[in-house]
Amino acid sequence: MTSPIRHPRRVRKLTDCHNVDDFRLLAHRRLPYPVFHYIDGAGDDEITKARNASAYDDCDLVPNVLAGVEEIDTSVEIMGRKSALPLILSPTALQRLFHWQGERAVAKVAERHNLWFGISSLSSISIEEIGANYAGPKMLQYYYHKDSGLNTALVERAKAANFDAITLTVDTIVSGKRERCLHSGFTTPPRITPASFLSYATKPSWALNFLFRERFSLPNLETHVSEGSNESISIQDYFNSMLDTSLDWDKAEKLRSDWGGTFCLKGIMSVADAKRAADIGCDAIMVSNHGGRQLDGSRSPFDQLEEIVDAVGDRIEVICDGGVRRGTHALKALSVGAKAASGGRLYLYALAAAGEEGVERAVTILKEEIERGMRLMGATTISDLSRDNLRWR
Ligand SMILES: Cc1cc2nc3c(=O)[nH]c(=O)nc-3n(C[C@H](O)[C@H](O)[C@H](O)COP(=O)(O)O)c2cc1C
Repeated sequence: MTSPIRHPRRVRKLTDCHNVDDFRLLAHRRLPYPVFHYIDGAGDDEITKARNASAYDDCDLVPNVLAGVEEIDTSVEIMGRKSALPLILSPTALQRLFHWQGERAVAKVAERHNLWFGISSLSSISIEEIGANYAGPKMLQYYYHKDSGLNTALVERAKAANFDAITLTVDTIVSGKRERCLHSGFTTPPRITPASFLSYATKPSWALNFLFRERFSLPNLETHVSEGSNESISIQDYFNSMLDTSLDWDKAEKLRSDWGGTFCLKGIMSVADAKRAADIGCDAIMVSNHGGRQLDGSRSPFDQLEEIVDAVGDRIEVICDGGVRRGTHALKALSVGAKAASGGRLYLYALAAAGEEGVERAVTILKEEIERGMRLMGATTISDLSRDNLRWR
């Protein structure tokens, strides 16, 4: 019997980060705990969040060798735009709270690597600024609010800023129960409470950047609501008070036609809904449970992918969103038939840990993992990947 030997793993600085989990450790060192746990946490018991990633471990890759893999092409076309990798940086809220460079850093890295990225309705940089400065493919993630004036304004602003797609999130009719945030008292903008004071005080670099750089706000919303920009509110309270629980297929279809451009639904999990999305003319769906932050106990996107691809893969692009921590996870999703894999935490920990430099390093690592994985699989193009190369345990 061999004795277990732990390999040395010390993550103190950016160059110590060699995978997504290393960035997570560095983010944990550098962020006040309410902010870290907002990113890292999920709904209820966080079982779905854990399964999103572990689902990939229940499926093994079967490589083909001697395939001549000197030249490989990792590019794909996603929603009409060429992407250098089959990877999308999913929209996530409040990024300037994680690092002062926020969405600007993510957009720059996405543009440099020619990747799709999304900004949230709750982004901390405006639709206009992103539209004016970043040429790469970009989507506006759309939360359907009760305030119809705000809903219309978001569409008009996305059109004027030449966004490539609107992605309507359909899994967030009410907020998931994010218990780490209930314990930490996390709000946007952060309210420093006696309980959290120490955490902010012991992360002076974060605190100084937050206090003395550009004022935090949610510029896509503040024309209509002050909560989140000028008034602190928990994300749970924001969703529960502002979003339209009556959102249904008719409203989704109307939004698609008002927008008139490329349209995606994010948060589709059932075959029936995937078919309906194709029926109303969506261009793509993101099979997603919001990174486990909404309905805990929900199935993982990767577990659900096969039946959705089989049902609608010939009518609509299917993106597998969540739990992706390795290049090989993306390759597994593509082998099942997804057009691309996507994720939030795969770049968010890196953003929180080290801003643009961090995101650049994280995306480069994932790119290298995808390239290495393809070579070792004997695949020279993405279309070489298929279910023939997979076995479930
Ligand atoms: C901190 C954080 C904020 C998020 N904000 C949004 C959001 O504003 N809108 C949205 O549709 N999804 C949001 N998501 C979900 C992501 O778009 C994506 O579905 C999720 O991160 C996928 O899981 P992964 O983190 O395991 O990759 C957020 C996720 C995280 C971690």
